[in-house]
Amino acid sequence: MAKKNLEESTISIVDSETPLEIPQQTEFYDIPTRFGSVPVDQAPLGWTIETRRRETKITKFEHAYPRIYLPFQEVQRVEFDYGDKFEPTELFPKGANRLFFGDNLHIMRQLPSKSIDLIYIDPPFFSGRNYNVIFGDKNEVRSFTDIWEGGMPGYLIWLNARLYEMKRLLKDTGSIYVHLDWHAIHYVKVEMDKIFGVDNFRNEIIWGYKLGGRPKDGWARKHDNILYYLRGSKFTFNADEVKVPYDSTGGYISSGRKMVGDKEYKIDPRGKIPEDWWDIPALNHMEKERIGYPTQKPAKLLERIIKASSNEGDVVADFFCGGGTTPTVAQSLNRRWIASDQSRIAVSVTQDRINRLVEEKLGKLFVVPDFTVENWGIYESPRLEKLPKNEFREFVIRAFGGKSESVSPNIHGVRYGVPLFVGEPTRNSRITKDDVAKFAEAIFKERRTNFGAMLGWNFAPDARKAAEILSARENKRIDFVRLNLVRLEDDNYRDHITTKHKDYNQLLSFIQPPEVRISYERISKLKYRFDVSESVSLNKDGIIANVQWDFDYKNRFSSSEGFAFLRDKKSGKPVLVVEYEFSSAGKKKIAFSVQDDQGGERTEIIEIEVK
Ligand SMILES: C[S@@+](CC[C@H](N)C(=O)[O-])C[C@H]1O[C@@H](n2cnc3c(N)ncnc32)[C@H](O)[C@@H]1O
Repeated sequence: MAKKNLEESTISIVDSETPLEIPQQTEFYDIPTRFGSVPVDQAPLGWTIETRRRETKITKFEHAYPRIYLPFQEVQRVEFDYGDKFEPTELFPKGANRLFFGDNLHIMRQLPSKSIDLIYIDPPFFSGRNYNVIFGDKNEVRSFTDIWEGGMPGYLIWLNARLYEMKRLLKDTGSIYVHLDWHAIHYVKVEMDKIFGVDNFRNEIIWGYKLGGRPKDGWARKHDNILYYLRGSKFTFNADEVKVPYDSTGGYISSGRKMVGDKEYKIDPRGKIPEDWWDIPALNHMEKERIGYPTQKPAKLLERIIKASSNEGDVVADFFCGGGTTPTVAQSLNRRWIASDQSRIAVSVTQDRINRLVEEKLGKLFVVPDFTVENWGIYESPRLEKLPKNEFREFVIRAFGGKSESVSPNIHGVRYGVPLFVGEPTRNSRITKDDVAKFAEAIFKERRTNFGAMLGWNFAPDARKAAEILSARENKRIDFVRLNLVRLEDDNYRDHITTKHKDYNQLLSFIQPPEVRISYERISKLKYRFDVSESVSLNKDGIIANVQWDFDYKNRFSSSEGFAFLRDKKSGKPVLVVEYEFSSAGKKKIAFSVQDDQGGERTEIIEIEVK
């Protein structure tokens, strides 16, 4: 029976062996006595607490969100030429900052505890009809129905599971800022009190702005709310870094004195720490900083937060990074950073913004770490085959729920004590009878066991026969697990995942980069029209969702200004035909990165003679 199951396995969900630090439950709902009996549940929504025979059992968010250990796939490393200056750490194993594409809950669950100094998040709010779709790609919106089922409680459980991981990731001296607005702020405050502790609440910052429409019959809603909590009693707050001059309402007088009635006060010439309401202009459409979608936050806002609550070299994280404001500002202030987003387009836009920043200014000022772009749960299949053997093995074993090893040439890992063997990376490779014989011998000699599993794309008929003979004559059992690339919409995949985790059925998929077709024509002197509208997504139901253009490609993609996130003003659809006027004639390298709405992306480079 066990054998049959294994044979039919595909890369999929696995359980964790890594224990998660469980803080004392009471720490989570420590409501001050002066509050009396607060009419809220004591535990954060989404936690189940069972008390049996005086023993308290807590199922954290695993019930709603099972633990799924899947590997990260590095799809890119953006190099700034200082790679060797940064030592690997547990959080930055390749010495590079990290930009993740995938669901942040599962990404965070794989990062080490107490490793981050500052977290800022600006999570989306999903209300029934009018939810917050920014990039419009499938991955961004796919969890929408899951989250909103059950209304506000559903949203809170979704967010709580993530806030809980953020608490785990913060260093004891860390801080967190959660940016929301009137829709959910009051509900989330209650949950944050339970998760981080009321005593760790510092401020509710009101960010006021004037931009946008106004009702004729009421007060315009012109502020957002930012909840600021600490992880513990020690923390960073760099008052001098964020002081502002006194303004007229604060009584600024250039002589450094202020009269209140007939009393004279001295004014600190360095200014004051801002109040808990911030008057920072929202980004209007003409702003240079703007990359073209509704929820982008001004860099000034992030600057204030990052300067106050972290130091140079500290780690700043944003797990809902959208257009990448946080990592970009963190980079410019010489902090290390971690960022993630579920939308591939958001990840590309972020990547591009950081690239441009480093290229324009930073390299000259700071020694800048490289950064990697890593996928979680959505994998580029062509890349998998091209991996070096050891990385391919590690990936497969991780996806299978095991741990890789490199002690013995014929045993590549273990899972629940069972030794594993992984075949070659190429799709048409096969595991042969020789492989079976070597593996059987290794597990017996080196591990004193007669049971092992071999994972590979294909198994030669003689390999199967060899396993049968070993089983019949020597009572050795070698199971075969055939690797299979499963697509999100595949029935196979659905069956496989949904029977295991009904609550969470859309997790792992393999995608193809789109097929890119380009044509171009000269329209006038130095002016050209480029057209990629014939490009097609190779993923099921996929459509091309974004194109970024770099009209002056220099070995690293960073899009030309205004050509990163182009949308048709009326339809909101991506613009696939663009016109560009070059500043001079001659040979030009043009790069364009075409993305589909499923996470597929391909960058092509062409060379043209501009006249
Ligand atoms: C409001 S936007 C953030 C905007 C950002 N602060 C900026 O200034 O550009 C929220 C982002 O969260 C992302 N998101 C939503 N659910 C997510 C999840 N489970 N994991 C990772 N990202 C997620 C969305 O794709 C969206 O880009």
